[in-house]
Amino acid sequence: MGRKFFVGGNWKCNGTSDEVKKIVTLLNEAEVPSEDDVEVVVSPPFVFLRMVKSLLRPDFSIAAQNCWVRKGGAFTGEVSAEMLVNLGIPWVILGHSERRLLLNESNEFVGDKVAYALSQGLKVIACVGETLEQRESGSTMAVVAVQTKAIAERVLNWSNIVLAYEPVWAIGTGKVATPAQAQEVHYELRKWLHENAGAEVAATTRIIYGGSVNGANCKELAAKPDVDGFLVGGASLKPEFIDIIKSST
Ligand code: G3P
Repeated sequence: MGRKFFVGGNWKCNGTSDEVKKIVTLLNEAEVPSEDDVEVVVSPPFVFLRMVKSLLRPDFSIAAQNCWVRKGGAFTGEVSAEMLVNLGIPWVILGHSERRLLLNESNEFVGDKVAYALSQGLKVIACVGETLEQRESGSTMAVVAVQTKAIAERVLNWSNIVLAYEPVWAIGTGKVATPAQAQEVHYELRKWLHENAGAEVAATTRIIYGGSVNGANCKELAAKPDVDGFLVGGASLKPEFIDIIKSST
């Protein structure tokens, strides 16, 4: 059985109530492939999760952009996995490079977050990716392998994980990875999963690409055999996100 194409929209720290309502209206009115063929998950900031959940079309799903590493309590400012489950939010993005770099989230901390979120019944978009310096030094695969290993050491069941390869140098820069660059890393990540998590995990885990995806470059990227979809930032706030949802058809 093939891997269902997956398109995530990471809205990051953006939006007002009115702007969010406009984006949701755009999504609700769009003609898109069946959810049997393409899985769409949008990820608003925490403060809009309830509103988006109440307004969004039923064939799209919702992710939080983060959650705490363990059960809630005296962790000021954090949102727990249990709270997301209680809100009926099925997905969560973890390990985004902006949190790894700006908030010093280590590989181990991200791995613990993934394991805990899964243990509470959430589905996880787990992000890995190298910096420009790491790519230019030829250590791309070493870096993403270590990041993925920190997850694999804590997780046995990969059925609720989507792995997002997001080269840091492509995020928000307009410098999208070439289809060949994306395919190379996705292929190597799938090979790593095969060697370290087993053939079934490698064959069934969606590996999606993120980093300056837009309506113009999505089709060529989507055509690559190991690119199973996208995690889209800036373009997910624009009408071209619909083109990206359609890019695999
Ligand atoms: O999580 C997706 C994001 O990091 C990609 O951002 O704006 O380059 O599509 P962008």
